[in-house]
Amino acid sequence: MKKLHPLEHGLNAYKVNFDAALLKPLQTLFDTSLRERLNREGYAYLFEGLEQINIQITDEALKYHITSYGTAPLLWISNNNAHTYKLFKSFMDELNIMDDIKTLVDFKNKIEVYCGFFVVGKGMDRPTWHKDFYDGAQGYTLITPLFELDNAHGNLMYKDAASNVKKYKYKINEAVVFGSGFEHATEPYTKTDNLRVMLSFTFGTDKIEHWETLSKTIGEQSNYMILPCGHQKGSCGCCNEPGA
Ligand SMILES: [Fe+2]
Ligand SMILES: [Zn+2]
Repeated sequence: MKKLHPLEHGLNAYKVNFDAALLKPLQTLFDTSLRERLNREGYAYLFEGLEQINIQITDEALKYHITSYGTAPLLWISNNNAHTYKLFKSFMDELNIMDDIKTLVDFKNKIEVYCGFFVVGKGMDRPTWHKDFYDGAQGYTLITPLFELDNAHGNLMYKDAASNVKKYKYKINEAVVFGSGFEHATEPYTKTDNLRVMLSFTFGTDKIEHWETLSKTIGEQSNYMILPCGHQKGSCGCCNEPGA
């Protein structure tokens, strides 16, 4: 591995440094199409974390889908059309970690970027421990601050190989990348008006036989996503999507 460095021995988790310039286009995208809207009073209910939320936001050619699971006050704002997906994906192209990822997953030709997200919060009242993938899933999550976090914002809690709880402090221009087995939670933090904005992606194998395991956790995280076959979810029958 050239760009990824183990977060800690024995875990399926890594960190990678990158050039500050890589974040610029998505910082601008967030500031011009989302920040003002998310701060409006009418959207305050989104951050309460009490109910399942699924809404669309459109700003000219941009389309977003906002999901909140009703288990924690966290918004998953995903690309909801091809144009917006491409803007997110440019970051992954520039980051250029796929040669490293190829050493971690079973793939055929390339690593597919499934979906991009802004993960936005204004407070976290409890740690919701979870794993992003089932065992054997040939996929990864990347997460990095889109803007410098302020001191009050929560970091990443995770469990080490002996199940001790550890903390990873998010740094601007450093991303964490993790796959199956990695148990983690957002560190709780008190309510603030200063949005905590993270950039996140799911990506992994291009082999359709691995979709079943992947889909159990990432299949319903967004409305628009690219499947291992390279097609938009819901537009093909390659992966035998549940419900498609
Ligand atoms: Fe997670
Ligand atoms: Zn397909």
